[in-house]
This record gives sequence, structure tokens and C-alpha cells, in this order.
Amino acid sequence: MGKYPRIRVTPPGPKARALLKRDAEVMSDSLVRFYPLVVESGEGSIVRDVDGNEYIDFNAGIACLNVGHSHPKVVDAIKKQADKFLHYSITDFYYENIVSLGEKLQSITPGNFRKKIFFSNSGAESIETAIKLTRWHTRRPLFLAFIGAFHGRLMGSLSLTASKPSQKKYFSPLMPGVTHVPYPYCYRCPFKLEYSDCDYWCVEFIEKWILERSVPAQDTAAIFFEPIQGEGGYVVPPPDYFQRLKKLADKHEILLVDDEIQAGMGRTGKWSAIEHWNIEPDVTCMAKSLAAGLPIGATIAREDIMDWEGGSHTSTFGGNPVSAAAANAAIDAIKDEKLMENATRLGAHMMSRLKEWQTKYEIVGDVRGKGLMIGIEIVKDKTSKNPGNEESKEIMHKAWRRGVAVITCGQSTIRIAPPLTITTELVDSALEILEGAIKEVSTA
Ligand SMILES: Cc1ncc(COP(=O)(O)O)c(C=O)c1O
Repeated sequence: MGKYPRIRVTPPGPKARALLKRDAEVMSDSLVRFYPLVVESGEGSIVRDVDGNEYIDFNAGIACLNVGHSHPKVVDAIKKQADKFLHYSITDFYYENIVSLGEKLQSITPGNFRKKIFFSNSGAESIETAIKLTRWHTRRPLFLAFIGAFHGRLMGSLSLTASKPSQKKYFSPLMPGVTHVPYPYCYRCPFKLEYSDCDYWCVEFIEKWILERSVPAQDTAAIFFEPIQGEGGYVVPPPDYFQRLKKLADKHEILLVDDEIQAGMGRTGKWSAIEHWNIEPDVTCMAKSLAAGLPIGATIAREDIMDWEGGSHTSTFGGNPVSAAAANAAIDAIKDEKLMENATRLGAHMMSRLKEWQTKYEIVGDVRGKGLMIGIEIVKDKTSKNPGNEESKEIMHKAWRRGVAVITCGQSTIRIAPPLTITTELVDSALEILEGAIKEVSTA
């Protein structure tokens, strides 16, 4: 197999540059690419570009490839299903593999209660479903969501999103009825408090300053949250946060909607990241890695909540049989190959090295994460904590040119989200390159 990465031509090479020209003539200008990686193929945790460069993939197609690129069992399942039938709309008829996927999801998603599932085609659609479902069930019009959240870009999910102004610019009016509250981002506490002296003031704030003054609790259908904020900067809430939030929500009979789209499917070492906080959300949204790279979304709700009537919500392609075949195979692979155990083990291995970087380099402000969902927040210096925006981008570009495909999130966080199949050897090679880039930028 030999050692990875293998950089044969400084990227972007000639074939990549030729494609960039064609792309610029065709593709919507709303797309923002991190760097000109033009993908030719992928295998496991390696992604190849059109000029023959082979990178260690710390992106996993933006957390969509938890079982790695083109996992053989997933590919086999897709081929077999493609030979049988490609589509027949579960909205109007029946087929088996989506039912079996539903049964699997019933057992692996949090909540010791009966559940029902609505299948769609993407993360944003699974959130739209949760918006409509929680309104339907509660007959309440309002929602709470978090500053820094990313739940998608359709008009409902975009209304819950609050991660970058560019995501919303010129698109208002959005869906009315959403209030954003501070997320427990302890490294940059919006209240300038220190954990744990704060005693979770951020939860009390929601009750005392939002629900008691501005947003009537009895009109609030649900609180949407990411167990670990993804786009917002790989932000990990403190240990009792969700217990406290759940207590507050239960008190006012407000539903909790858990967005596991980026953090779920084993990435943090558990099927759902919220299991680290030991609470049972009322509704869970899954997408991204669920079908190992094919489009699918799933909204899994307590059976008594999914009480809407025939015709209230459907989707032509939702739960497509080819995506369902891929998802069934991906769930089996995560179980059979003990990928969550690998995520926990390698996550701990990485974290111990990254913690050293935090003491070694002035620009490494914070490192945080669970399993293989890890953020390195880059700052100008540890005292000011000013976001190292240009620095994080420079680190990302240097790492990519040297063979580690990694991207940023939040204002200046390097996000590490490799396939859960990755080996210690590949992790160590990638970290060596990443550390080299951080060191150079740190002393520049
Ligand atoms: C946490 C979270 N929710 C929702 C979405 C939206 O998913 P999609 O892009 O499939 O609509 C994303 C996408 O990055 C996400 O990370």
C-alpha cells in the first residue's frame, strides 16, 4: 500500500485547472469552494484528484462518508438495488428496504419509546419535516434555535440557521416565529462567564429572559439544537447542558429536536452525539452519512408526536430505494466493523496530541470534540482570543497542498472529520502535516 499522502503535482495540477475553467462557466456562483480539489476517485480514507494526487481525507465529503469512500459492501448493495428498481415513490406505494432501514433507525436512535419515521432527501428536508411535524403536533407556532446553528438553507431550515449573515442576506422575510438564543460556547461564552462557575446561566437565561419576557412558552413548539455545533465551529456543550435544557423544555411541554445530521451515524463514537449527554430528544434528524454518500434524510419522532394525517407531508423521492440500500449497508458496516469503537479510540489518540499543540502554539486557542468530530480553534493569540481567520485558512491551504484534505468551520476552526474507518497510521501522517502547517503559520 505504501505511505500516504502522495503529492505528484503541486495542486491544482493541469487537469484540475482545466476543469476549474469549465466549472466557472457552468456552476452557480452561490457555491463557495474551500480549495480547488477536483475529485477523481476515493477509497477508504484516501481521496484522489484528477492529476493523480492522493490525499488523506479529513473531510469525508463534509461528514457524509463515515464508512469511507465507496465502501465495498455499500457499493455492492447499491448495484444490486439498481439492477432491481431505481424508484417507486414510498409516498404512494410500498417496498421492503426502506421499512428495514426504518426498523434499524428505530433501534439505533435515542429514546426508549416507540418511534415513527419520515424519509426525505437531505438534511434541510429532514429539518423542514421536523418544523412542520412539531407545529402540527403541538398546534404551537413558535420555535427556539441557537446562535451559531446550521440546520440547512431551505426557507424553514434557513430560519433556524444562524451561523453566517451571508447565508441569509437578501432572503428575508424568512419563516416567522424563530428566536435565537446563545449556544453554550464556553471558550467564547456570550455572557463572558466561566464554566462551571456560571452554573449554566445560559439555560436559565432562556427561561428568565426569553420565555418569561418575549416568547410565550405555551406558543413554543420546539427547540432545535445541534448536540455539537458543526458549521458553527465544532462547539461542544459542557457535561450537564442538555440535561438542564431538557428539564426546561419538559417543564413547558416544548419538544426537543436533535439535529444529528453532521454529528450522528457514529461520528462521535455513539450512533447519536446526544447520547454523550444522556437525554432522549423527542425528534431526531439524520442525513449526511446515513446513506454513505447518497442523498437521504430521516426525521425520527416519538410515535405519539408523528400523529399527522394522510397527505399532510410527502416527498416523491424521499427514502429512495437505492439510498435505502446504501443506508442499510452503511449501518451494518458501522456495527460489524466496530467503527464507533475506532472513532472513540482514534479520537482520544488525536485529542492527546492536539492538547499538546494547544500548549505549544500560541495560535491554537482551543481544541475540543468527541470521537472523530474534532475542532482546533485558531486565534491571533491566546490572550486576545481574536479569531485567526486568515491563519486558519492558511493552515488549511498548506495542509491541502501537502496532502491532507481538511477544511474550516465557524470563524477560524480547523474541522477534523475523517471517515471512521481511518487507521492510526493515516491519522499520524495527517497530524504530522497539519502540525507542520500550524507551526509555520504560528511563527510567520
Ligand atoms: C447540522 C446540520 N444540519 C443540517 C444540514 C443541512 O443538510 P443538507 O446540506 O443536506 O441540506 C447540515 C449540512 O451541513 C448540517 O451540518
